[in-house]
Amino acid sequence: MMYIYLSGPPSKLYEESSEVKVTVRPGMALEDMSKEALSDPEKFWAEQARGLDWHRQWDRVLDWNPPFARWFSGGLLNASVNCLDRHVTTETKNKAAIIWESESGESRTLTYFQLYRYVNRFANVLKGLGVQKGDRVTIYMPMVPELPVAMLACARIGATHSVVFSGFSSQALVDRVNDAQSKVIVTADGGFRKGKLVDLKRVVDESLAQTPSVQHVVVFRRAGNDVRMGPKDVWWHEAIEKAPMFCPPEMVESTHPLYILYTSGTTGKPKGVMHGTAGYLVHLYATAKWVFDFNKSDIFFCTADIGWVTGHSYIVYAPLMHGITEIMYDGAPDYPRPDRYWAVAEKHGATILYTTPTALRMYMKYGDAIPNSFDLSFLRLLGTVGEPINPEVWQWYFTTIGKERCPIIDTWWQTETGGIMLSACTGVDFVPMKPGSATFPVPGVDAVVVDDSGSPVPPGTKGYLVVRKPWPGMLLSLWGDDEKYRKTYWSKFEGVYYPGDYALVDKDGYLWLLGRADDVLKVAGHRLGTMELESAFVAHKAIAEAAVASRPDSTKGESIIAFLVAKEGVAASDALRKDIVEHIRKTVGPIATPDEVYFVGKLPKTRSGKIMRRLLKAIASGDKIGDITTLEDGAAIDEVRHAYDELK
Ligand code: WTA
Repeated sequence: MMYIYLSGPPSKLYEESSEVKVTVRPGMALEDMSKEALSDPEKFWAEQARGLDWHRQWDRVLDWNPPFARWFSGGLLNASVNCLDRHVTTETKNKAAIIWESESGESRTLTYFQLYRYVNRFANVLKGLGVQKGDRVTIYMPMVPELPVAMLACARIGATHSVVFSGFSSQALVDRVNDAQSKVIVTADGGFRKGKLVDLKRVVDESLAQTPSVQHVVVFRRAGNDVRMGPKDVWWHEAIEKAPMFCPPEMVESTHPLYILYTSGTTGKPKGVMHGTAGYLVHLYATAKWVFDFNKSDIFFCTADIGWVTGHSYIVYAPLMHGITEIMYDGAPDYPRPDRYWAVAEKHGATILYTTPTALRMYMKYGDAIPNSFDLSFLRLLGTVGEPINPEVWQWYFTTIGKERCPIIDTWWQTETGGIMLSACTGVDFVPMKPGSATFPVPGVDAVVVDDSGSPVPPGTKGYLVVRKPWPGMLLSLWGDDEKYRKTYWSKFEGVYYPGDYALVDKDGYLWLLGRADDVLKVAGHRLGTMELESAFVAHKAIAEAAVASRPDSTKGESIIAFLVAKEGVAASDALRKDIVEHIRKTVGPIATPDEVYFVGKLPKTRSGKIMRRLLKAIASGDKIGDITTLEDGAAIDEVRHAYDELK
């Protein structure tokens, strides 16, 4: 296959790929459905909305005041009712909702009815602590069933949850609590990661001096570690003991903020992506049906952490709305052995596995014998999300894990989009798969690839992925910052949503994602902003300036490298390097651990003072440096190169 690229390097993914035909269930023609959806989106999405339980129907399907979309206005509903109450009067009532498994192999199962009761009771606990409709609650918990319980309890009373990934540390927690002005934090004494205790309560304790909005902290006992209970602290088990069994659901407006989830962008501060209730749920309900083809006997295993959007959408809201059984795994994929996903899938009979290219690349390195020693014959569908999947990894997933029986769905979407935007739809139509391609937009999503001037590019040309029409899962705005919302997503191209990804369309109309077009990193699928990391580095007392770049990594996708300028009089040393790495782990979290740290005398900057990250990335990746005419001081490159060579 030969393609001509007008800009940027050709994608390796794209070139290496060959077509694999997989027959998926034939149904309604996807193309017809997509055409119909785009010709009258309001009619189409209104039909999808009928799948939800409404307290009051909407008056208008869409109010579109670019860039603000308000879906199903006039409607009243409750997210927890759509996940729980709707099932407890049917035969789903006694079915397992959540099968939880820990890294040590311990399991717990909660039926829909048990989950319903638990959520009602915890909703009453929150109410008892003074939480009201519209208040924000920060949830900082390990992957235990109490985490979705806390989220659904917030939804039940109309509070907006803000989940903070439990791998984040104190500064990240402080920033998120303060931005959301949360009244309550729900946490646990601790969690476990690779056999080690993660002392969550201590991190919360540390944050309290800097988070004046917090009135109460609810502490779930998970790890049994010693904790200090202060005046604001309440034990989960004591509070729930006294809580009434039923909590009337607060019926909220369609556009009521269900949650805020902080994510990284190109600026120093994380952005609070705000999702509404009805549009978000409709998008999830419909896409889950099309993409995963959920049916009653499914056991869905999404390996994400609920601290990220994949967990919000595809562990909490979508599977529960559909009344299916899901597996929730609390642990690392490779601890105590590099077989945990296979062991868990075998033990509980997973029918759908939804995971990341990073996890697959890690497992692939350990060879086929490990997965082959497990009975994975119940699997019927394999999904991936979070980063582009390399065709060879795709092939391995297809052959070794799926035994060439299971279609693979490569799903592209973002925190901001709420739910899946590009993917094969196994519940709709037959789609020949191409390893490494996310195939097509899901029905109702108007995604195209454009050039710098916003015009669609010809097949085979790298450009920017954009979405031209609003979709129901679209974020409402950024929490407290409409201007930043407008600037970040709607200013590059007038009236068009800009996700920040490169892509191309091939001659058959298939979409190929080619990585981020901005300063966002994807390290093991986790989204991190370079500027955010740089501010964390300069918060260290010895550091004056920092520049962060990434390098391709064969397992994690990308790894973090930092170029640092030490303050006057500070000598660079290995001890300092270690101390800085520790500082990053402590303030941001272990996921932000830099793989390499270099000390330089100055950073390469443009004449207007912008760090030329492209240059740093090129040096660290051994690529050509390219055009440097905008560089302010050529000596800076030599500095970087020298520091880099010396350590190598
Ligand atoms: C990347 C995760 C290629 C992309 C759900 C996007 C992908 C960012 C894919 C969002 C995929 C996600 N193929 N790239 N299938 N899925 N991405 O907000 O760069 O954590 O913009 O949401 O992940 O990351 P986020």
